[in-house]
Amino acid sequence: MEIASDRLIQEVNIPMQDGFGRKIDYLRISVTDRCNFRCQYCMSEKMTFMPKSELLTLEEITLIAERFIGHGIRKIRLTGGEPLVRRDMKDVIQRLGRKVESGDLKELTLTTNGSLLSEYADHLAAHHVQRINVSMDTLDPRRFAEITRGADVNVVLAGIEAAKSAGIRVKINMVALRDFNESDLVPMAQYCARNGHDLTIIETMPLGDVGADRALAHISADEFLKPLSNCYSITPIPHRSAGPARYASVEPLGLKLGMITPLSNNFCDDCNRLRLTTDGKIFMCLGHNAHVDLRSAVRNNGIPAVDQLLRQALKLKPRQHDFNAQLDGSAEILERHMNVTGG
Ligand code: GTP
Ligand code: 5AD
Ligand code: SF4
Repeated sequence: MEIASDRLIQEVNIPMQDGFGRKIDYLRISVTDRCNFRCQYCMSEKMTFMPKSELLTLEEITLIAERFIGHGIRKIRLTGGEPLVRRDMKDVIQRLGRKVESGDLKELTLTTNGSLLSEYADHLAAHHVQRINVSMDTLDPRRFAEITRGADVNVVLAGIEAAKSAGIRVKINMVALRDFNESDLVPMAQYCARNGHDLTIIETMPLGDVGADRALAHISADEFLKPLSNCYSITPIPHRSAGPARYASVEPLGLKLGMITPLSNNFCDDCNRLRLTTDGKIFMCLGHNAHVDLRSAVRNNGIPAVDQLLRQALKLKPRQHDFNAQLDGSAEILERHMNVTGG
């Protein structure tokens, strides 16, 4: 298949809006459901992954992304699983990076567990990835190995250092887990401030059976932040990134702190994004099952099939997720794990 031309992008150029009038300009692409970690809130220990034939190919990802750009997508975030375990990931980055170079995309970013960053940092920087988000729930080596089921925090720290040296801005994602990492917040905030990284706290979302009771692990961002607000002053600031985080500044540390609060403070009114899964489905909401199957349509009818399915998908976008009902047991937990939809 040939890569779509810039001419096509100009021809198709129709900005997208959903049924609630929200402008959709942000695409999250999960490039693989595989991961070299097994974070306890994300996966079960014995996770099975999709056969490789189900995955979108490099060509399909590029063509679909180009078509989406034609429809007004301006930011793309590559996620997973762990995106950097995908074998042809350097090519994915290079091809999408060209869209930043040409001005068609404003931003190309990545969410990673950081374990392979030492190998990828220079390549990312060379292909217009200017900021990345790295998941790291604790700096404590023992607790890090426990939550990831066996990973080494020092490898991740070295990867983050490599990204920083390559000139990439880093934001650390810390999932808030009751009775697990509350005491890790202050050291994490101090580490981030010392190294010039931003920090985002994320409330756990009930996605997929992970073999643990999620209601027990859940803690609101407000409660989780208490140890930090006991030591420092936390003041809301108007800064926004492409995603759902609300920000505050932590002084006198000089830290920019993000808070992603799907359960305690809903942000769906501002939702600007859709998700392309590893196997080529478009999900319009992380918390709902409604989707369209782009992969079959593209494999059967070629890339123009994307246009009609996108129109259909926009109508499916719900007003908001149902995570609270899923967490308190009054609605059924979604079967789909975070690593398939890419967060
Ligand atoms: P930037 O704001 O661009 O830095 O990115 P981000 O924070 O949106 O991206 P990241 O991949 O780091 O995601 C952080 C957390 O936000 C993950 O747990 C995602 O699942 C969650 N998240 C991202 N978008 C949404 C969304 O639309 N709804 C919900 N409920 N969670 C989301
Ligand atoms: N709830 C909240 N965040 C999660 N992540 C993975 N699973 C969950 C969950 N169930 C986070 C990861 C990563 C980001 C993409 O989503 O830690 O930083
Ligand atoms: Fe892998 Fe990220 Fe899931 Fe952890 S949260 S198992 S690093 S995909």
